[in-house]
Amino acid sequence: MPSNENYHKNAISKLNNGGLFIQDAFIDGNWVPKSLKFEVYEPSTATVLGSVASCDVNDFRQAIQSASSAQSKFFESTTAVGRGALLKRWHDLIMANKDDLATILSLENGKTLSEASGEVGYAASFIAWFAEEATRSYGVTIPSSSPNTSLMTIHEPVGVCGIITPWNFPAAMITRKVAPALAAGCSVVIKPPSETPFSCLALTKLAVDAGLPPAIIQVCPTKDRAAATELAKDPLVKKISFTGSTNVGKMLAKLSAETLKKVSLELGGNAPFIVFNDADVDLAVEGAMFCKFRCSGQTCVCANRFYVQSGISKSFTEKLVEKVRALQLGPGLDPKTTQGPLVNKAAVNKVREHITDATSKGAKIEYGDTAYGSDGFFHQPTVLSGVRQDMQVAKEETFGPLAPIIVFEDEEEAIRLANDTEFGLAGYFYSKDVSRVMRVAQKLQVGMVGANTGKISAAEAPFGGIKESGYGKEGSLYGLREYQITKSITIGNINSTT
Ligand code: SIN
Repeated sequence: MPSNENYHKNAISKLNNGGLFIQDAFIDGNWVPKSLKFEVYEPSTATVLGSVASCDVNDFRQAIQSASSAQSKFFESTTAVGRGALLKRWHDLIMANKDDLATILSLENGKTLSEASGEVGYAASFIAWFAEEATRSYGVTIPSSSPNTSLMTIHEPVGVCGIITPWNFPAAMITRKVAPALAAGCSVVIKPPSETPFSCLALTKLAVDAGLPPAIIQVCPTKDRAAATELAKDPLVKKISFTGSTNVGKMLAKLSAETLKKVSLELGGNAPFIVFNDADVDLAVEGAMFCKFRCSGQTCVCANRFYVQSGISKSFTEKLVEKVRALQLGPGLDPKTTQGPLVNKAAVNKVREHITDATSKGAKIEYGDTAYGSDGFFHQPTVLSGVRQDMQVAKEETFGPLAPIIVFEDEEEAIRLANDTEFGLAGYFYSKDVSRVMRVAQKLQVGMVGANTGKISAAEAPFGGIKESGYGKEGSLYGLREYQITKSITIGNINSTT
């Protein structure tokens, strides 16, 4: 694989706004360099991209305290329209710096520049959405069962929010959580992913440039898990929003239970992608390519298991292989690249493990299979046929560019296999039969369904899972409520004039 240790130095030196590449923490309105730092690797070259301030438990406590002191003033001194306008300015600054943000994102995550640029737009879309939702935070009036009584609800900010985000969407997962929190009038303390902290730091700078009172947003990068868990322990934090693994999600839920924080968890997936005999196979292949190979297979909603009905399995497999063969593996910033590296060596090893397990049990490699480990964390996109439900790849999320194909005979079998998992984030299927579309959409045990499409993510679409994929919804009209409490107000004796 092509690599070059000066690759990222050149790219950073060419940023239009070099001030966006920040390696400090942001606590109590100050950029804090810290003497203790941790290294961040660039996946395309496996070289050190930067060294970032490493926060300890005292930094988290200071950030939480500062965010708590600032929060009620922020809410009381702003209107919903004002917070919407602030978010709109943040959105506009992000779009004005889109190229720089995409370069930083591609360097730290490895995704292609065009995907990174798409992610910056996606990240900004959550801010635009919640800028408008801020102004529509309607309460209700309720006919009271008591005489002389008015009953109504209002929505208030929950308070300080602990935001913990993953490396696969270094920008969009920040804005999907922070934008509704700010729209509601909350303050946030963010623990960005240690693999990809730079997008978060750049976005934070732009938020402050847009006029956000500095103490309302605080960023504590760290690799010290014990320090970060302070977010879930500190009683001043009223809400935890986490995207990441199911194990860490469960641990955060347990810790948060001690102080009964509000919690939303977007956790692991194991998405089925079903193609029925009556599907448009070309459309299904197009959806599969997006849904499987976006971010090199490293999204929670990626298709993890392909169930293809026997009548079209041969043509689906051939067409999929043809498209996968055309993918161009390479460093994220190379304009020829259509498939970047994985985030680190462990991610490459996980793909290897799933291929080895499946082939040892009889699966066939239709295309791919090669890992390139030393100069960047690359794995060739791979298609497996002859896969069975008892193989590791059907049970666990691969989080990599591996498409395993399992052949099924009828609808009942497809539904049974698709639901045979403890996860329930997303599920996809292709069929031209409108009754089947409704039936299967209802029977899939997931929080999000894509029927005849592999694209389900958008600011206006409720995002979130069921089962061990977590709870709570992000984006959409529901996303704001996750950062609010609903207060009922009962006013009695309204007809009394004395
Ligand atoms: C994720 O992988 O967690 C997010 C994917 C998306 O927003 O589409």
